[in-house]
Amino acid sequence: MREWEQILSDIKSWVYEAGEEQIRRFNQPMNLQYKSAEIDIVTEVDLWTENFLVNKIHTNYPGHRILTEESGAHDGNENYEWVIDPIDGTTNFAHGFPLFCISIGVKYNDETVLGVVYVPKLGELYEAMKGYGAKLNGEPIQVSQIKRLQLAVLATGFPYDRASDPQNNVDNFVNVVTKVAGIRRTGSAAIDLCQVASGRFDGYWELKLKPWDIEAGLLIVSEAKGRIKRINGEKGIFVIVGNESIYEALDTLVSG
Ligand code: IPD
Ligand code: CA
Ligand code: CA
Ligand code: CA
Repeated sequence: MREWEQILSDIKSWVYEAGEEQIRRFNQPMNLQYKSAEIDIVTEVDLWTENFLVNKIHTNYPGHRILTEESGAHDGNENYEWVIDPIDGTTNFAHGFPLFCISIGVKYNDETVLGVVYVPKLGELYEAMKGYGAKLNGEPIQVSQIKRLQLAVLATGFPYDRASDPQNNVDNFVNVVTKVAGIRRTGSAAIDLCQVASGRFDGYWELKLKPWDIEAGLLIVSEAKGRIKRINGEKGIFVIVGNESIYEALDTLVSG
C-alpha cells in the first residue's frame, strides 16, 4: 500500500510536469512521423513525453518493467510493469484540438493496481488505486445512474486500419446510433473511459485497442463501480464499459 501510494504520488508529479511541456508545445510547429498508415501519426511531443517518463521510472524504480506505445517493452526484474501512452489522442494533438491525455497504468504481479489519466488542457487528473475508488481532481467519482439506452450518451472510436479492414466498428456504430441519445468520438480511448467513470458518458465500446490505451482507464472505470468487458483478440482488445444497465444493453448490440 505504502509503496503504491508513493508510486501514485510520483506519477502525479511527473504527469503534471510532462503536461506543462505538452501545453507549451501544443499549436507549435512539430515534426510528425507516420506509422502503420498515413493517418497513424506520432509527433515529437509523444516521443519527448515517453522518453521523459521512461527516464523517471528507470531512475526512481530501477528494475520495473515498462510497456509503451512508441518504444515497446523495456525489460526489468521486478514484479511491477508500467503501461504508458504518452499522448492518447495524438490526432487531436497534431490538429490543435485540445482533447488529449497521458495515460499510465501500473501492474503488480500482472494485476492493474494504479491508473492515472491526465488531460492537461482541461486540468483534469483521473486516478484510481485498486480497492480505494476512483477520483477526479481529488474528488470521488462514480458511473451514471441512467438506465434506459434511449437516454444514454455513449462514446466509441474507429481503428487506424478502418479503410483496409472491414472489422472497423462501422457496423456496430450503425446498429447503435439510432437507439441512443448520442454517440461521441473524442479521439482518445483513455478520455472516453474516464468520462464513463465520472458519469458524463453512460457507456463506451471499441475494438482493436492496445494495452496502453486502456490499462489505466479500465481500472478507473471499475473503481468508479462501472462494469467492464475486456476480450483480447488477435487484432487487439475489444472493450465494453458502462453502468450496469447500459453495459448490459450494449453487450447485446456490439461485437469485436
Ligand atoms: C488512439 C485513440 C483513439 C482510438 C484509437 C487509438 P492514439 O490512440 O485512443 O481514440 O480510437 O484506437 O489508437 O494513437 O491517439 O494514442
Ligand atoms: Ca492510444
Ligand atoms: Ca498514443
Ligand atoms: Ca498512436
